[in-house]
Amino acid sequence: MAITVIFPRNEYSENLREILEPLLPPGALWRDPEEGLEDLRGRKLLFAVALDQGGCNMSCYRMLSLLRRSGGLLEDSVGALVVTGVGELYTKDVARDLVLAANLAGCAFLGRPLVEATGSLRNFQVQAQLGGTDEATAFRMAIAELAERLAGWEGLPPPRRVLALHASVRSTSNTLALWELVKAGLPEEVEVREVCLQNGTLADCIGCSYTACLHFGQQGGCFYGGPMVEEVFPAVRDCDGLVMLCANYNDALSANLTAFVNRLTALFRQNRFYDKQLYGLIVSGYSGGDLIARQLISGLNMNKSFYLPPRFCLLETANEKGSLVKLPGIAERGGAFAAQMMARR
Ligand SMILES: Cc1cc2nc3c(=O)[nH]c(=O)nc-3n(C[C@H](O)[C@H](O)[C@H](O)COP(=O)(O)O)c2cc1C
Repeated sequence: MAITVIFPRNEYSENLREILEPLLPPGALWRDPEEGLEDLRGRKLLFAVALDQGGCNMSCYRMLSLLRRSGGLLEDSVGALVVTGVGELYTKDVARDLVLAANLAGCAFLGRPLVEATGSLRNFQVQAQLGGTDEATAFRMAIAELAERLAGWEGLPPPRRVLALHASVRSTSNTLALWELVKAGLPEEVEVREVCLQNGTLADCIGCSYTACLHFGQQGGCFYGGPMVEEVFPAVRDCDGLVMLCANYNDALSANLTAFVNRLTALFRQNRFYDKQLYGLIVSGYSGGDLIARQLISGLNMNKSFYLPPRFCLLETANEKGSLVKLPGIAERGGAFAAQMMARR
């Protein structure tokens, strides 16, 4: 299937088109989102967004608004994206906004779906050094690699070994109550494992040098060792679906879950997680669940390479202890989420 390039135009987009065109497999279709987003179901989509000096692309924002209202405009599609900036900021921010909106409109995303280029291309310094080339070439090589992975993507079967990670107290947690509803909807043949990352057992990443991290990672470990290496790394290696159970703590993942994402770097040095699917159950007391979803996208999908199935997260709001199970229609939404986990994509 040919790649369809979703190409919101502005004064910088032609420059991006000139870079992209020779790097894509033959037959790519170019689509201006201002002409509508109909007929984009079941496709391989490459979003190509050039930002202006203000870190915006107005046509992209109009597309974002459409996607957020749509429900299912991008059903059964799989996506990746290239975002360029004039300055040094906002490329990642725009990318994860777009991934969340497209994902909730039904589009899956490859693991490591983003190639971004800041204005100076300094973000390619390390890759250029490792590849013995310059930043502009490293950028082009990254696009070619992404386009090849998108073109060759064949989908994943439903997960059979699900790992649920949490850092909550079972008796009181609304987030764990949501997981119980989802878990009850999973078929019997799905093996479910739960790991609690509580009690301060999980020290955060110390930020070893690249070579030290690689060295420990190659031995299946990490500088610190401990429960992360003994229990969590093997559980992640073994699963094909990872469910992150996230209570909203100050509009972010809780410290233990954040430490998990950071410490996963050692495992990531020797493994890619392209064939492991990421899910999120997110409960806020008031608002802001989308912020947590974006954190999961940038930390685990964009950085750590987990595959993002369509509508990867279920977002709920419940504050009082025990109140989640009283939300109207919550059992149905939990069951529907479980059923969706079991669909092939
Ligand atoms: C330390 C802390 C910070 C919190 N910050 C927020 C917040 O920023 N926004 C929000 O909507 N809810 C916030 N909450 C409320 C929880 O998200 C809420 O209680 C929800 O039910 C999930 O938590 P639970 O699974 O532990 O029950 C916070 C709760 C705690 C304990």
